[in-house]
Amino acid sequence: MPTDVVSAAPLTPIAPARPWHIGLIGFGCVGQGLYDILQQHPASGFVVARIVVKNPAKARTLPAERFEFDADALLVDDSLDVLVELIDDANAAFALVAAALLRGRRVVTANKAMLARHLPALVALQRAHGGTLLYEAAVCGSIPIIRTLDAYFGTEPLRRLTGILNGSSNYVLTRMGEGGTDYGPALAQAQQLGFAETDPSLDMGAFDPRSKAVLLAAHAYGLFLDPEQVLNLGIEGISATDIAFAASRGQKIKVVAGLQRLPDGRVTALVTPQLVGPESPLFGVDEEFNGVVLEADFAGEQFLRGRGAGGHPTGSAVLADLAALRQGFAYHYAKTAAPPTHATDLEIEIYLRTDEPRLIDLLDFSEVSEEADEDGYVVGYVALAHLIAHRDLLREYGAFIMRTGQLRPIGEAATPVLETASGRV
Ligand SMILES: NC(=O)c1ccc[n+]([C@@H]2O[C@H](COP(=O)([O-])OP(=O)(O)OC[C@H]3O[C@@H](n4cnc5c(N)ncnc54)[C@H](OP(=O)(O)O)[C@@H]3O)[C@@H](O)[C@H]2O)c1
Repeated sequence: MPTDVVSAAPLTPIAPARPWHIGLIGFGCVGQGLYDILQQHPASGFVVARIVVKNPAKARTLPAERFEFDADALLVDDSLDVLVELIDDANAAFALVAAALLRGRRVVTANKAMLARHLPALVALQRAHGGTLLYEAAVCGSIPIIRTLDAYFGTEPLRRLTGILNGSSNYVLTRMGEGGTDYGPALAQAQQLGFAETDPSLDMGAFDPRSKAVLLAAHAYGLFLDPEQVLNLGIEGISATDIAFAASRGQKIKVVAGLQRLPDGRVTALVTPQLVGPESPLFGVDEEFNGVVLEADFAGEQFLRGRGAGGHPTGSAVLADLAALRQGFAYHYAKTAAPPTHATDLEIEIYLRTDEPRLIDLLDFSEVSEEADEDGYVVGYVALAHLIAHRDLLREYGAFIMRTGQLRPIGEAATPVLETASGRV
């Protein structure tokens, strides 16, 4: 060894970081999924220290002594580095998450219904008390869309975001489109395979993807919306006639959440069944998969596809949030500093099929381009506000409505549409 080389002092080995202790609230599909991932991946640096569930009588996959029943006890346990809220009760979840943030704690949740209703309050609590809340798992399961919007596109303006955000309805539509199966049997199959809940109304009525659209609007545009403000039309009334209508045009029916910036800077948000053609990346998002297309001003178009639900895919997103928390990450909500206005004073082209002619009168079409009496459908423009106001009645009467075209200003028949891209969904 040359003598002029100063031999370095032996490096002090870096002590492995202490594993973070998780207080897990909820041990159902996602809670168990996360637990299983951490068991299979002990090097992740997280251990589940305490688990709280609700029902003391339920049979468990772990020894009984692993479970406790008072979630409030976890909120005050300062030995826990992070609380992971994975329960199925939105009201109880809000009480827990709000109380944890009030104490300045780190929290991860997957509860989209709770978040969509209370996001502004939860953001305010974080800002006031220094806690951090992450919720990647709440939208599209394993697809990292919230962090992509918040961190990567936090500054760049977005023209549009379109997505298939609900795997259950997508599975039903896939079965109907490919197998000629009717809605009832397709839904039963989805339930049998665990892709749809016993009570399917939140998924099939597009309430679930509406909650997700509300969360996406906050991160994509800085717009805090009340879920009620977002039009949600479901697929409970769909029939083979509608599938045949789409197929005759070489298209598929998908439930699509569409967030879009208008030329005047305002933003629209709606979740509806929609005709999707092969030119759209969403055309190939079938079965129980989710997909999101982003159109950014400078980056152009990006497409993410993946599993939107299930213990492991959703647990994977929770693990990603835990790792992000450990690195000090928090959402920036950068675009909320100058939020756009929400626009509903527009017309939208729809296909309406109903055996109740009064619904057609009620919607007051400003322009009709196609009518088929034998199949009971009409295609034309209606005011978005009419659809929002009458959505419950339309659902009650079993009408099926899908978006067939673009948005346009009210009363401007045959004027150029408000779309900024090629007209794809
Ligand atoms: N399943 C998915 O694929 C998926 C995907 C994305 C997001 N999410 C969201 O993740 C959350 C959990 O969903 P999940 O499917 O895992 O639900 P789940 O299978 O129904 O399990 C819910 C768990 O929460 C517990 N729980 C309910 N109320 C409680 C309370 N007040 N205190 C303590 N524990 C309570 C239940 O306890 P018991 O075991 O005693 O009944 C159960 O362990 C929901 O917000 C859901 O929307 C789910």
